[in-house]
Amino acid sequence: MTMRSAILGTGSALPARRVSNDELAETVDTSDEWIVERTGIRFRHIAGEDETTASLGTAAAQKALDDAGLDAGEIDLIVLATSTPDQTFPASATIIQTNLGIDDCVAFDVQAVCSGFLYALSVADNMIRGGSARKAIVIGSETFSRILDWEDRGTCVLFGDGAGAVVLGAEESERGILSSKLHADGRHNQLLYVDGGPSTTGTVGKLRMKGREVFRHAVVNLASVLHEALDEAGLATADIDWIVPHQANRRILDATAKKLGLPADKVVITVDQHANTSAASVPLALDTAIRDGRIKRGDVLALEAMGGGFTWGASIVRY
Ligand code: UT7
Repeated sequence: MTMRSAILGTGSALPARRVSNDELAETVDTSDEWIVERTGIRFRHIAGEDETTASLGTAAAQKALDDAGLDAGEIDLIVLATSTPDQTFPASATIIQTNLGIDDCVAFDVQAVCSGFLYALSVADNMIRGGSARKAIVIGSETFSRILDWEDRGTCVLFGDGAGAVVLGAEESERGILSSKLHADGRHNQLLYVDGGPSTTGTVGKLRMKGREVFRHAVVNLASVLHEALDEAGLATADIDWIVPHQANRRILDATAKKLGLPADKVVITVDQHANTSAASVPLALDTAIRDGRIKRGDVLALEAMGGGFTWGASIVRY
């Protein structure tokens, strides 16, 4: 048997306020028809004043711990994927650590925008397999509503807030993370970025995106990295029970499944309910599909994401 990082539990959290396309259309020049047809999005959750990346991340992590039947004191590593931290520093992972009542463990943030959860999962998996952690919480949590330009209809209708988390544990096992593949290509910075930062403008900035060009790269990159991750795991596309993709656009999900030759009913879709929650979207979709009974123990999952940077990645997991 091989030492692997097994998924012991999952959890997720959403802000209380749920916003429909029709509600958005009251203040933005858009329509429910356009948003549904071009993206598949129907609702998104928007964080209130008292809801932050760390508070949502804490709620998701606590649910994942409960699901795993573990006490927070058993955790020795917290990795948070986010591009919308509560503070520029310290890492929001340390806020979550304190909220969970953990006095001492390794805790840090990973920033790879929408691919952040795949990056964070891979880092945690490597630390577990390398022996420097035994039980880890990997979280994706975002409040993108705070960095949206609410006058840019080309972006503000696409995103939502939320958090998802998994608890990983070291196990001599057939189950767990079987492979991970990550990529970055910084030449595409200007296709998806935030126009501010501590070291340049001294401000947080707003999200800017050339959506059509991002779309074009997404389908090609996602299909190719899924093939790489499957090869590394020694599996074929036919072995996949569920694709758990980054939820950016329903059309990207359908096109990626088609390019892989997989039927659409093997794709977990939550973009209609949550919109694009960046680093939170993969763990949020994973937890949703586990809790509603779609994903069962033993299933082979293909997690994938692509986002700003560009960054992209995939992991094959036996749940
Ligand atoms: O998470 C990171 C990865 N991000 C993504 O994967 C996003 C990838 N891109 C996309 O999902 C799509 O490109 C969008 C959903 C962003 C846009 O869809 P599109 O089919 O590429 O539309 P478009 O940007 O080419 O715009 C088509 C038309 C334009 O009007 P004209 O110039 O043809 O008259 C836009 O002005 O739709 C207009 N438009 C809108 N109309 C109503 C753009 N946004 C809106 C809107 N409501 N919200």
